[in-house]
Amino acid sequence: MTSALPMVVPAQGLPPRVRIHEVGARDGLQNEKATVPTEVKAEFIRRLAASGLTTIEATSFVHPKWVPQLADAEALFPQVSDIEGVHLPVLVPNERGLDRALDLGARRIAVFGSATETFAQKNLNRTVAESLAMFEPVVTRAKDAKVHVRGYLSMCFGDPWEGAVPVPQVVATAKALLDLGCDELSLGDTIGVATPGHVQALLSALNDEGVPTDTIGVHFHDTYGQALSNTLAALQRGVTTVDASAGGLGGCPYAKSATGNLATEDLVWMLDGLGIETGVDLAALTATSVWLAEQLGRPSPSRTVRALSPTE
Ligand code: HMG
Ligand code: MG
Repeated sequence: MTSALPMVVPAQGLPPRVRIHEVGARDGLQNEKATVPTEVKAEFIRRLAASGLTTIEATSFVHPKWVPQLADAEALFPQVSDIEGVHLPVLVPNERGLDRALDLGARRIAVFGSATETFAQKNLNRTVAESLAMFEPVVTRAKDAKVHVRGYLSMCFGDPWEGAVPVPQVVATAKALLDLGCDELSLGDTIGVATPGHVQALLSALNDEGVPTDTIGVHFHDTYGQALSNTLAALQRGVTTVDASAGGLGGCPYAKSATGNLATEDLVWMLDGLGIETGVDLAALTATSVWLAEQLGRPSPSRTVRALSPTE
């Protein structure tokens, strides 16, 4: 493994610090066909924490038949919940999921809605309105228990069944999620079709409707190689929370055209070069992705991981 780092050359109009919301253990692994042993997932999360990541999405308390890879949530969570200084959000679609998460002491949850009807139906077996109704008691009970709630919104930039998704439709659903009481909103480009102007247009439209930028995170999948450009466009608009997946793992089992998330290493390479603080040690993170790739039996799709760990 080489230990190259980018030369630091700051650019104007960007935040001094970015919080990375690491989704590798959840979004990254949820689509893996072969069952990843619980111990490997726990070790992955521990290594991610040791590399300096402080928000690490651990798993999902969904129906095990819908996402078999994460059926071990009850076994996994207690194996990682004692890691110092790390938030471990978990996905929770309904009250049954919330009960399971609270029983294990989860302090951060995420509900996950859709800007489009087709994906709401495929992912949650509900209309958009029915999914919001399902989330309502989840958010209320979580807030009563002083649990932090993230609201994911999928298909913000395009949907494989419905095509283009109008910005006002996304804004309306985003506001509905925030009105439930979510502390944070994550804008999902589930199938990776967004481009930078589109990202800035959505952020402007949300601002115009009074949604503060500091409640917004961005969640880009990298299907068309746009995730990093889209992230830079979001940073230019003041966003400071960026979702990424170690090694670029990922996909969504209910959106076939979704590939991996923005790779955390690619993100950290860019942010290091811009002099933007993340607290992440790129070499340690890359070593973690190389280790996980060995466990999964195939190389990481991240360009940075490949560049820093040449095989010949
Ligand atoms: P449903 O079949 O409509 O469920 O699924 P139901 O409410 O009718 O209940 C049926 C049975 O499931 C009942 O059991 C429930 O108890 C049980 P029975 O009485 O028949 O024995 N059940 C549960 N069991 C365990 N945990 C639960 C749970 N809920 C119900 N939480 C449901 C509705 C929401 C459960 C289902 O659709 C589901 O689990 N969906 C999850 C899909 C998913 O996890 N997708 C991936 C995450 S989203 C994503 O990746 C996008 C994101 O990354 C952002 C982006 O990229 O855009 C976040
Ligand atoms: Mg995703």
